[in-house]
Amino acid sequence: MRLTVKEIRQATADSVVLTFEKPTESFNYHSGQYLTVVLDIDGESVRRAYSLCSSPFVDEFPSIGVKRVKGGKVSNYINDNIRIGSEIEVLPPMGNFKCEVESNGQRSIVLMGGGSGMTPLISISKTVLSQETASVVTLVNVNLNKENSLFVDDLLHLKTEYGVRFRVLDHFVEEEVITKKGLFRKEVLAQKGLPSKDTLYNYLEVLGIESSDENVCYLCGPSGLMDSSELALRAVGIDKSRIKRESFVADLSKSNQEALSFEGSSEVTIQIMGDSHVMKVQNKAILQSGLENGIEMPFSCQAGLCTACMGKCTEGVVEMEFSDGLTQEQIEQGYVLTCVGHAKSDKVTIVFE
Ligand code: FES
Repeated sequence: MRLTVKEIRQATADSVVLTFEKPTESFNYHSGQYLTVVLDIDGESVRRAYSLCSSPFVDEFPSIGVKRVKGGKVSNYINDNIRIGSEIEVLPPMGNFKCEVESNGQRSIVLMGGGSGMTPLISISKTVLSQETASVVTLVNVNLNKENSLFVDDLLHLKTEYGVRFRVLDHFVEEEVITKKGLFRKEVLAQKGLPSKDTLYNYLEVLGIESSDENVCYLCGPSGLMDSSELALRAVGIDKSRIKRESFVADLSKSNQEALSFEGSSEVTIQIMGDSHVMKVQNKAILQSGLENGIEMPFSCQAGLCTACMGKCTEGVVEMEFSDGLTQEQIEQGYVLTCVGHAKSDKVTIVFE
């Protein structure tokens, strides 16, 4: 679908929030999900996923946050070139990192993240606070400094509106200190930096977060921060099944090299929109082979993160380089990410539902 930009807000020096006019087509989304933006830049069609920072329950118009990435083709293009009135092609909202509302819930929702990871977390905060009147939201917000922190005004607004039901703990890596000359300057304090698991554990203790079947935790930010946050939450006693993670960048150290090791070629059948396509695949991800064969397969990040390319393997064996984007349940049901999925048997069939 095509969305028209209604408003552009400079959120920090290096990020904007784009708000779109109300879509004419049906546009349903959950807090935590993202939009895939499809742009033509220098004659090349490129796609990137950006989380929605609006809440479907609070905000009349959908918004996404776009932070510049050093050397990033799309994020810099959007920050530099998109204007009010620009039309942008997007795929429908997607993603597993979604917050389902429990209107009678009395939950403790714990959000931990930083940088652009704040984008889905602010949407989840707005939704839970407005829709679950007996639930409490706790946010651990890790950023370089206050100026670099996204949604500062929105957080203040939510704190004013919801009081004790919304608690925010800021951890700023860079702090203002007084130098010998008496001047303020920014300095990365030795004991600061990204908080360790122990620091985060202490924060959780101070905030009174404890193990409970009602807790749901959402992590979004740099992978090191999410790893420490997950360890801290586990140390508090929170079960892994109650911790959701959203990654914007693939963690190459977690790459499954086994996925790349099939020497032979495979006959892969792609069933999509009522059509069946058969192709030979060798030493390539299934999505890449499909696109090269002219099959219109869905995709977005091409890095095993967003699930846009997800299909169900109904025959044969597919191994993925990265599978963090899928839930354990989806993996058990046979779903695979074709952008990082490699055929590992003579015949493979993938069905797109
Ligand atoms: Fe995003 Fe495959 S295209 S996970």
